[in-house]
Amino acid sequence: MKQRTLGRTGYQVSEIGMGCWQLGGDFGPIEDATSQATLKAAHDAGITFYDTADVYGGGRSELQVGHFLKGPGQGSIVATKVGRTAALFPDSYETDAIADHLRASANRLGVERLDLVQLHCVPVGLLEDGEIFRIMDEMVAQGLTAHWGASVETLAESRMCMTEPGCASIQTIFNLYRQNAAWELFDEAKEKGVGIIVRLPLASGVLTGKFEKGHAFPASDHRNYNADGASFSVGETFSGIEMDKAIGALDLIRPLVPEGMSLADFALRWILDHDAVSSVIAGVSRPDQALRNAAVSDLPPLGADIHAELRRIYQAEIEPMVRCPI
Ligand SMILES: NC(=O)c1ccc[n+]([C@@H]2O[C@H](COP(=O)([O-])OP(=O)(O)OC[C@H]3O[C@@H](n4cnc5c(N)ncnc54)[C@H](OP(=O)(O)O)[C@@H]3O)[C@@H](O)[C@H]2O)c1
Repeated sequence: MKQRTLGRTGYQVSEIGMGCWQLGGDFGPIEDATSQATLKAAHDAGITFYDTADVYGGGRSELQVGHFLKGPGQGSIVATKVGRTAALFPDSYETDAIADHLRASANRLGVERLDLVQLHCVPVGLLEDGEIFRIMDEMVAQGLTAHWGASVETLAESRMCMTEPGCASIQTIFNLYRQNAAWELFDEAKEKGVGIIVRLPLASGVLTGKFEKGHAFPASDHRNYNADGASFSVGETFSGIEMDKAIGALDLIRPLVPEGMSLADFALRWILDHDAVSSVIAGVSRPDQALRNAAVSDLPPLGADIHAELRRIYQAEIEPMVRCPI
């Protein structure tokens, strides 16, 4: 597993990381034993970077990661998030309340100080106002977290956060169905030394090619209850594209996949070919998925011709289907 530097944190992290939203149960029911087996498989495959949030499963995801950190996961780097609990969102971001949230996350993770706390898609007005950044600086000064970053919905929000000297990392949606960061964000991130954490690398799983049109997800799965953005930004589910259209668009991509390579591997490899990316936090709900994704680190880069064609296809055919601001 190749390592990359996570922006201003200076942490060395595995270029394939693990997204732990699944461990909270928002991709359908999951047993804690499966969560532990998945984390262990990720660790065994060389994954050293894990992304979670206080709200995933109401703290359950952090508890699972915390349990893992006491065992095989010792020494891993964990990024968590703050800002989407009912106590804070959308307009109660007081310093003391945020500090209490960070202490609660540290408790669940079983650590004295958090490695990285990301603002969790907080309202854009808060970013424009800027006071939230001073609060995050204060969280570092108080020793509650070593670093802070921001997980955001749009490239404009990324740019607002990146100008802050304290902002160590940006978490953004970036995949074959959401390519704009490659030409609108990455150069500036590299110049400023801000780490890029890529979420939704597989467009919620669609880019693996394993779903048929009309696929029915469990009621507790956001790919069911948020398929059209009923609960949070539509962009977080299937990258903002209507599911059947997203599945249909795979016909445009498939002819470019080299012989012997899976669609999922191709989608992840394409992301890793961008050197501004620090880590790709592929979300996984089973051990074999973690192993499979980790192995992409060893695959060779895709050719420049493939990259150019994928960009052309995206701009002509796919970007117009995205139902949220990019
Ligand atoms: N606002 C935010 O800050 C925010 C929002 C969204 C996500 N995130 C973070 O980003 C992480 C990644 O995003 P995501 O999980 O939403 O989307 P994703 O990584 O694009 O898709 C994850 C899904 O893809 C499927 N999958 C993964 N690897 C596979 C493989 N090798 N073979 C077959 N299927 C595979 C699994 O589906 P099944 O479960 O159906 O098997 C998995 O649940 C999350 O876990 C979370 O940590 C953050």
